Amino acid sequence: MAKIAPSILSADFSHLGEDVKRVVSAGADLLHIDIMDGSFVPNISIGPLVVKSLRPITEIPFDVHLMISDPDKYIPEFVSAGADIITVHAETGHHLHRTISLIKSQEKQAGLAINPATPLNIIEPVLPDLNLILIMTVNPGFGGQKFITSMLDKIRSARKLINEGGFDIQLEVDGGINRENVAEVVEAGADIYVAGNAAFKGEGTIEENIKTLKELSG
Ligand code: DX5
Ligand code: ZN
Repeated sequence: MAKIAPSILSADFSHLGEDVKRVVSAGADLLHIDIMDGSFVPNISIGPLVVKSLRPITEIPFDVHLMISDPDKYIPEFVSAGADIITVHAETGHHLHRTISLIKSQEKQAGLAINPATPLNIIEPVLPDLNLILIMTVNPGFGGQKFITSMLDKIRSARKLINEGGFDIQLEVDGGINRENVAEVVEAGADIYVAGNAAFKGEGTIEENIKTLKELSG
C-alpha cells in the first residue's frame, strides 16, 4: 500500500500545529516539509526552527525536502531539528556523493530529488547510497501547480531501475497529485506520494481529503 505524505506548505500557517495534528490523526504516513531558499527556487518557505517546533507534535517520520542551493551547509541543523529523511536536489550538487554521505553519517535517510527537466540517469552513480528517490511532477517552488503528465514515464523508469537493481529505495512522487491522478501515480510505481493542496485545500475537510486519497491510491 502506498504511503501519503501531506505537504505542510499548503497548511494554514496561522495554526500549523493544529493542521499537522489533523493530518496525522487522519492517517498521514509521513509529514512532507518543503524548505525553499529563494535561490534554488523562486520562493521562500520555512527553516529548521519550524521543523523543531513541530517535532514534539507527532512521531511520524519528517520527510524534509530541501529546495536550497547549498544543502551541505544546513543538513546538520535539519538533523538536530528532527528530520528523519533528508532529500536534496540533484541539480544543486557538484558533490552529490559527499552530500548524501553527510546525511547518512548523521544516521538519517538520504533522498535525491530530480526536477522535471532532469534526466533520471543523473542518479545512477549514487543509487547504492540512496534510501529514497523523489521524482518532481511540477517545477518546484509552489504548491497547487498542475501535474506534468509526461512524468509518468519517468516514474515507471525509476521503478524499473530500483526493481531490476534490487535496491532498497523508496520511490516518492511530488507535485500536483490529487484525487484524479493519485491512482495512476501509484500504478506507475510510487511508494510515497506527496499531497499539498489536495490534502489541506481539497474538496472536503482535511480528514475527508486524506481518507479519499488513501482509498483512491489503493
Ligand atoms: C513543490 C513542493 C511540493 C508541493 C506539493 O515545490 O515540493 O511538495 O508543495 O503541493 P501540491 O500537492 O499542491 O502540488
Ligand atoms: Zn516537496
